[in-house]
Amino acid sequence: MLSLRMRAEKEGKHVSGAERLVSTPEELHRALRELLKRPREYDKMFITVEEVQSVEVLPRALTIYSHDFRRVEDAHEFAVKKLGEEGIPEKVVRRALELLKAGANPKGGNMRGAVLMDFESGERLEPDRERGVRTVRMDWKDRKGLRKLLKERGIKKHYTDRLMDALVLATKNVHCGVLAELCWSDDPEYTTGYVAGKGIGYVRIKPMKEQGNPLGGRVYFVRRDRLQELIECLESRALIVETL
Ligand code: COA
Ligand code: AMP
Repeated sequence: MLSLRMRAEKEGKHVSGAERLVSTPEELHRALRELLKRPREYDKMFITVEEVQSVEVLPRALTIYSHDFRRVEDAHEFAVKKLGEEGIPEKVVRRALELLKAGANPKGGNMRGAVLMDFESGERLEPDRERGVRTVRMDWKDRKGLRKLLKERGIKKHYTDRLMDALVLATKNVHCGVLAELCWSDDPEYTTGYVAGKGIGYVRIKPMKEQGNPLGGRVYFVRRDRLQELIECLESRALIVETL
């Protein structure tokens, strides 16, 4: 199987990233055509095609739920409640919310990956606080089939590449041993975020930030033991998710 990854920059700044796992030359060409169209604006694009030796297959993704609120504050309170159901203490969730609101990169602004937060103490555990840790090498078995499935379930309007990419990422995180996740985008126009966990599923929450705000990020709540194994799984182990 091949891992196909695309990232694009504008004026030295990362603007878009996406990836696929493919098995045949036809799939590779189709995926490449799709990924080439992904970034809206860029002046440099990097494409990586890499052989992956072994791939795990997971039958189902986390279940999707959606909740809309009028105010960011209410959305954040709901996130505290849901993450509490997953066993993350309130004070730790509030620390994570404050971190993402302020910009989790100690040099200012966004990180290039996720914060790893000790779920008991709230301590940051990622080896590099500007970079964070990125979840890579995951994909759906059949993206076309997913559109059909969502249509059948009456939730077709929710289908976007963004949702599908984030859902497979959150599913891989839980599979690797992340206890729960908090996320909102750094896209100033996109205010829907989510919390995710094995028990609570993939819970879309809107609005997690005000329109026009360029700050975003991800916090993975983790156990501090076996951290290296967790990072290795997130970054290196390939995972295909079969269906919703
Ligand atoms: N954000 C910011 N910078 C990024 C980045 C990201 N997501 N991904 C890559 N970069 C930049 C960094 O400068 C990185 O250097 P670093 O490792 O010191 O941080 C450099 O590109 C090389 O990164 P690398 O990990 O080698 O890239 P890659 O070719 O393996 O591709 C991506 C990884 C781009 C596919 C992956 O990071 C990504 O963005 N995947 C999509 C994530 C997704 O689906 N998110 C959900 C959408 S809601
Ligand atoms: P996005 O959902 O793409 O807007 O990304 C929101 C934030 O998540 C970014 O600012 C990064 O901090 C982080 N991030 C982006 N890609 C990844 C990834 N592959 N794994 C973990 N964190 C990521």
